[in-house]
Amino acid sequence: SSLQQVCEPSAHSNAGYEEYADVDWDNLGFGLMPTDYMYITKGTKDGLFEEGQLSRYGNIELSPSAGVLNYGQGLFEGTKAIRKEDGRLLLFRPDQNAIRMKIGAERMCMSSPSVDQFVDAVKQTALANNRWVPPPGKGSLYLRPLLMGSGPILGLAPAPEYTFLVYASPVGNYFKEGVAPLNLYVEDEFHRTSRGGAGGVKTITNYAPVLKALGRAKSRGFSDVLYLDSVNKKYIEEVSSCNIFIVKDDTISTPATNGTILEGVTRKSIIEIARALGYQVEERSIPVEELIDANEVFGTGTAVCVAQVGSITHQGKRVEYKTGDRSVCRELFSTLVGIQRGLIEDKMGWTVEI
Ligand code: COI
Repeated sequence: SSLQQVCEPSAHSNAGYEEYADVDWDNLGFGLMPTDYMYITKGTKDGLFEEGQLSRYGNIELSPSAGVLNYGQGLFEGTKAIRKEDGRLLLFRPDQNAIRMKIGAERMCMSSPSVDQFVDAVKQTALANNRWVPPPGKGSLYLRPLLMGSGPILGLAPAPEYTFLVYASPVGNYFKEGVAPLNLYVEDEFHRTSRGGAGGVKTITNYAPVLKALGRAKSRGFSDVLYLDSVNKKYIEEVSSCNIFIVKDDTISTPATNGTILEGVTRKSIIEIARALGYQVEERSIPVEELIDANEVFGTGTAVCVAQVGSITHQGKRVEYKTGDRSVCRELFSTLVGIQRGLIEDKMGWTVEI
C-alpha cells in the first residue's frame, strides 16, 4: 500500500548531514527563515502532475490572472521534520496532510497531487534542507506545502493549471509567549467560518479574514482569539491558529468536525493519545459557558503543537485554568512530542524516518 511505501526509509536517506546552517538554534521563533531548496511541480485541471523537482528557494512567477490571485483557489498544509538524537529525520503523519489536501482540493475545485507524490515532495524538501533542521530538542523544520490555481482565468471558474510546491523554514515555538500559557479572547463580532463554507479544509481563504480580530486581540495583550459558531454564536469552534480542547475531570472535549472545524492532524493524534492514556474523549458541540467550569484548556496544531491556555476572556469576564507539569495538557504534550522526536516508541506507526 502507499502507506507501506511511505514508511520505508527513502533511497536518498542522508543521516550524515555535513554541518548545520548558521542559525541561533536557541532562539528560534515561528518566523520565516529562507532555506536552500523548494520542491515545485505543475498539474493540469485533470490532475496530471508532472514529476516535480527541487529548485533553489526563491520567488515564483505567476500570471496576474492566476486563479489563486483572483478567486482564492489556494490550499496550504503544515508538517514538520524533527531531528532524532541519532541525527536522522522523522516526519509526522505526512500522509494525513496529503489526504487533507486532496479533500480540500475537491472542495475548492482544484486538482491535486497523489498522496505518494505529496509525501515524496515533503521528504525531498526536508532532506534537501537537512542543514536547516534544528538539532535534537531545539525545534523543527516546518514544511509548508502549497497548492494553487496558477493558470489564468478571468470569468469565475476553476483555473486551467495548478502549481504544487513545498518550502521549509526552521521553527521553534509558535507563540512569542514560548511555552508559557496563552491568554485567549473570545470573539463575539467576527467568525472564522460559517456553516456550508470551507472551514473544514485548509484553504487560504480561512486565514486572512481572522487577521482583523487577531490584530485587535493582540493589541489588547491577548495571545490569540477563540471564535464562536456563526449560526448560534454560542458554541466554541476554533482558535485562529489551532484547534481547541477543554478538560473537565477525566473527560477531554473538543468541537466535533461538522464542516466548520479544521480536521487537524494534531487534533486527531491527541484524541488517539488521550484515549490510549485512559481519558474519555468527546467530540461534540461545546457551549461557550462550559469554559467557566473547565479545569484546563489547550490548543492543538502542527505549528502550535499542544499549547496550554492560562486564561480565557469573554464579555469582560476572565476565567483562569490549571497549567503546569501536573496537567493533562502537559501529559498529552510530552507524549506527542516524545513520539515525534523518536523518544517514545511509536506504536501507532505515525512517524516516517527519512
Ligand atoms: C499549522 O499549524 O501548521 C498551520 O498551518 C497553522 C498556521 C496558522 C500557522
